[in-house]
Amino acid sequence: MSFCFNFDLSATTNTDDVQGKTSSTDKIDIVAKPVNESGCPAEAVKEAKEHFPPSDSLHLLDDAIYETLTIGTLPPLHFLNETVFEKTVYEREDTENILCRTAEQRSDLISGVYEGGLKVWECTYDLLEVIEREGETFGGKAVLDLGCGTGLLGILSLKRKAREVHFQDYNSTVLEQLTVSNVILNCQDDDCDNDDDDDDSKGKNKGTTDKEEECKIKLKHDTRDLFLQRCRFFSGDWRTFLILASSQDPSLKYDIILTSETIYNTAYYPALHDTFHKLLAPRGHVYVATKSHYFGVGGGLHLFETFVQERGVFSLNHLWASEDGLQRHVVVLRFKKESH
Ligand SMILES: C[S@@+](CC[C@H](N)C(=O)[O-])C[C@H]1O[C@@H](n2cnc3c(N)ncnc32)[C@H](O)[C@@H]1O
Repeated sequence: MSFCFNFDLSATTNTDDVQGKTSSTDKIDIVAKPVNESGCPAEAVKEAKEHFPPSDSLHLLDDAIYETLTIGTLPPLHFLNETVFEKTVYEREDTENILCRTAEQRSDLISGVYEGGLKVWECTYDLLEVIEREGETFGGKAVLDLGCGTGLLGILSLKRKAREVHFQDYNSTVLEQLTVSNVILNCQDDDCDNDDDDDDSKGKNKGTTDKEEECKIKLKHDTRDLFLQRCRFFSGDWRTFLILASSQDPSLKYDIILTSETIYNTAYYPALHDTFHKLLAPRGHVYVATKSHYFGVGGGLHLFETFVQERGVFSLNHLWASEDGLQRHVVVLRFKKESH
């Protein structure tokens, strides 16, 4: 077997600060794993699996340190601070062994092993801003947050009354330890969200106030179950996710697919494109948020756009682009009339 690449490369990105978001001007360390001649990861990919939140899921939030993201008129979005994982790496259930591997290798992504879902990547913020600006509505719609990581995009659609929201991430540890926790964290009523004017650390909540206690009680009794009833969680690579999802429900179609920072590896494009093709409703659309180029793994918008054009199934329209630094974009895909 020959390998296309096997190297360890880093890139530094400078990003604009978006109001209310956590700063993520950090270094992106990508460890590219060997891939075989056909471009597939040399290690076995992770088989898709559905995850069911534990019935006592509130314990996932014990000692949670979380942050709150506020963008324009969007409802506040809460998510676990990524340092939670650094501090508790050896106490957590991690059958995939990704928490210690990423901590030891200090990498944001180990291709084919850990695909980066433990932190919020900056294009997620871009996509949230575009959703706000475009006035996207989620009410009554079926939504897929593909490559969800923290799940902020899917959580927004839940809060905006999507009929059902499916979260998919490559890593089961990410889903079980982070995505599900974040969904539960967001079950509090929006009027329970911290909006204390005298809070200096606006957008970041640490510790527990009386108001939070009150909200936790509410959260226990009502919204959590209503939220979770509308959610499903899947781990595994896109190829097997597609097989699993379609075998469970051959008529499954999503009105909206949201995906951020998932086109960095050209080896995954066929599986990603097939997932869009098979699971998008005829009149649905896919939002893709991405950087122009990903150092270390080589993918990016231009290569993805070329791939989409060659397949001839979707039209691709540019919605937004940043001007400075490492360029970032949001594009939307829709079926060409004859293709669905
Ligand atoms: C860089 S992370 C981005 C996470 C999140 N969307 C964000 O913007 O913060 C890329 C995500 O894509 C998903 N992913 C990448 N390659 C994948 C593959 N071949 N199969 C399934 N999921 C994949 C992983 O779940 C991972 O969380």
